[in-house]
Amino acid sequence: MRQPKIDAQRLWDTLMALAAIGATPGGGVCRLALSDDDRRARDQLVRWCEQAGCRIETDAVGNLFARRAGHDPRAAVVMSGSHLDTQPNGGRFDGAYGVIAALEVLRALDDAAVQTARPFELVVWSNEEGTRFAPAMMGSMAFAGLLGVDEVLARTDADGLRYGDELARIGGRGSGLGNRRIAAYFEAHIEQGPVLERERCTIGVVTGGQGQRWYDLRLTGQAAHAGSTPMAGRRDALVGAARLVDALRRIAEAQPGGVATVGELHIAPNSRNVIPGEVRMTLELRHPDDRLRDAMDAQLQRAVHETTAAEGLQAELKTVLVQPATAFDPTLVARVRAAAQAEGLTHRDIVSGAAHDAIAIARVAPAAMIFVPCAGGISHNEAESATPEDLAAGAQVLLRAVLGACDDE
Ligand code: GLV
Ligand code: MN
Ligand code: MN
Repeated sequence: MRQPKIDAQRLWDTLMALAAIGATPGGGVCRLALSDDDRRARDQLVRWCEQAGCRIETDAVGNLFARRAGHDPRAAVVMSGSHLDTQPNGGRFDGAYGVIAALEVLRALDDAAVQTARPFELVVWSNEEGTRFAPAMMGSMAFAGLLGVDEVLARTDADGLRYGDELARIGGRGSGLGNRRIAAYFEAHIEQGPVLERERCTIGVVTGGQGQRWYDLRLTGQAAHAGSTPMAGRRDALVGAARLVDALRRIAEAQPGGVATVGELHIAPNSRNVIPGEVRMTLELRHPDDRLRDAMDAQLQRAVHETTAAEGLQAELKTVLVQPATAFDPTLVARVRAAAQAEGLTHRDIVSGAAHDAIAIARVAPAAMIFVPCAGGISHNEAESATPEDLAAGAQVLLRAVLGACDDE
C-alpha cells in the first residue's frame, strides 16, 4: 500500500469552489442554515461524495453522512467533518474547512487504494452556527441526544419560519437519529484566534473547549414621544440595554479568562423620535472553568434585576444554550499530537475558545480536533483567511489520525 497523501491543490480548489456558493462581495460567505445556498452547498458536497463512491444518508434533523466502506461493515465508524452553514458575514473556512478536509481524506484514501478495517464517514452537521436558528450546534447536539428532534424541528427564525419546514423545503430531511456507533470523531478547523499564528505554530492539538451560556433577553419599557416626554420617568428599553452591555463587559473583565458579548439588538419601534419601548437582545458568556462561568451567570442575573428596577423596565431572560467545558478524549488527542509529530509539523496543545460540533459529539463518543492558524486570528468575518499550506498540513494530520483510528482494534 502506498502511504496516502493529501493533495494540497485539490483541497484548496475544492474549498474555493464551495466558497463560491453564497459568496459575498466582500470576499466572504453568507450561507445561513437551511437557506437556498445551504441547499446548494449540501447538493454540491453530495455530488463530490458520490463521485468518490460514498453512500449518502441524512437523518431527521438534516445531518448528512457519506460513508466509505471498510472491511467490516458492522464495525463502529471513524467519522470526520464539520458544518457548511456560516455567519451572515462569515468567511470561507469556518466549518467548510473541516468538511472539505474530510472529503480530501476520502479522496486521498481512494488515490492510494487504501482499504480500512473500519468504515470512514464524512459528516456535515446541520446548523452549527446557531445564528438563524438558536442554539448553535443544533444538529450535533440532537445527534448526541442533548436536544429532542421535535424541539429542533419546532425552532423558528426571526421571520417565524420553522426549522422543520425549512429543512423539508431544501430537501434535507431524512430519518433516524444518532443511529451509528462512532469509534473516533475528528474535526479539523481554523483556530479562529491568534495563538498559532503568533507562535508560528502550524498545528493546534485541541485538548478541549471552554463552556458557554447563551441567553435571549426581552426588555419592555414604554414607547413615547421623544420631544414631549420629560427625561424623568421615562422607561427607555434601549437605555436599559446599554447599561447591560456595559455591565456584561465589566463582568467579563473582572473574571480573567472570561469573555462576554452582546451580538444582536432589535429595537422597537426603531424610529428616531420615539423612545424605544422594547429591545430584544442576545447575550453570551464563556469561560473555560464552569464554576467561574456560573459565577458570571449569577452576576448577569443580578445586573438584569438591578437595571430593570432602576429603569422601570420588565425583563424576560431566557437561557437558550448551556454548554459545559469539555475535555476531548485523551487517546485521540494523543493520536493527533503523534500525527503532527510524525508529519514533522510544529504543534502545541490548545483549548478552543469557540464552540464546535466536536464538543457536542464528545458527550457520546471519543472526539478530538485539529486547529490550523488563520490570519490575524480573525473569524466570523468576511476577511477570514488561511494559507493553502497550513490547510494542507492540517488535512495531512487528519488523514494520519483517521488512518490510525480506522485500523485500531
Ligand atoms: C460557534 O461558531 C461559536 O459561537 O463558537
Ligand atoms: Mn465552525
Ligand atoms: Mn462559526
